[in-house]
Amino acid sequence: MTTKTTVGKAVFPVAGLGTRFLPATKAQPKEMLPIVDKPLIQYAVEEAYDAGIRHMVFVTGRNKRAIEDHFDTAYELETELESAGKHELLALVHSIKPDDMDCSYVRQPRSLGLGHAVLCAQPLVGDEPFAVLLADDLMTGLEGGKSVLRQMVEVFERVRTSVIAVQEVPLDHVKRYGIVAGDPAGDRLTRVRQMVEKPSPDKAPSRMGVAGRYILTPAVFDQIRQQPRGAGGEIQLTDGIARLIATEGVHAFQYEGKRYDCGSKQGFLEATVELALRHPEVRDEFRAFLKQVVC
Ligand code: UTP
Repeated sequence: MTTKTTVGKAVFPVAGLGTRFLPATKAQPKEMLPIVDKPLIQYAVEEAYDAGIRHMVFVTGRNKRAIEDHFDTAYELETELESAGKHELLALVHSIKPDDMDCSYVRQPRSLGLGHAVLCAQPLVGDEPFAVLLADDLMTGLEGGKSVLRQMVEVFERVRTSVIAVQEVPLDHVKRYGIVAGDPAGDRLTRVRQMVEKPSPDKAPSRMGVAGRYILTPAVFDQIRQQPRGAGGEIQLTDGIARLIATEGVHAFQYEGKRYDCGSKQGFLEATVELALRHPEVRDEFRAFLKQVVC
């Protein structure tokens, strides 16, 4: 088991509207959509737990009750499983929230942007470095290796500045991402000099796109509070982090592993197929099925 780290809290902004996944997200949060048999939010919480984090802070909005229920005790279900002697299933249900994990919830009253959502978590985070995980970015570390957030916590413990996860993206995709550029600062590490939200390909300073994992210092809260509205009229997290470049410094880290953009239909389907092909219960039959439909 991983020991406790200097990053004690993880923030999960789950207050977005999920419009790319309508109608599925009309009455339920997109973070509860399952990949094989587990909701997206549980993958992200497990990643934070693996990184040694024990306090999970969810920034919720309307229609997000299912997330609170998912990490709460389900007495009726547990009693049923117990009396039916279904001990494996009972253990599975218990494992969703280990005893040493705390969950807190704060509401974002309106979807004003990711930066605003993170700011809503400030009273629960306090004056400490913290992680931010966007659950619709499903990250798999290298098989049998460290999770992406664990790699980032280790980097943070070395550099002691905010750390953002990045990956190289195709030039025609830069307009979907926050893009960073800077100077090499060691293995997989860049000292960030410039950060722009969703640039057009001709304005992009590089092809290094920000993925949904961050370790941030608490100074970001003041920056977000002071910044003007950014791209799309939203209070952008990228803008707040960009303002830290001049004050404390920021590092970008090219993680080892893979990201699935499960906020998009294509990414969601890719994650479903690839994770199903690794799932011990279904992989053999599913592989045979895929061969049949593709040939
Ligand atoms: P997205 O850009 O994916 O937005 O937000 P969205 O509203 O969830 O989805 P679409 O684009 O309409 O389909 C990235 C992350 O930031 C959170 C979302 O829940 C998601 O995890 N978010 C975004 C908030 O919590 N609050 C906001 O105001 C905006």
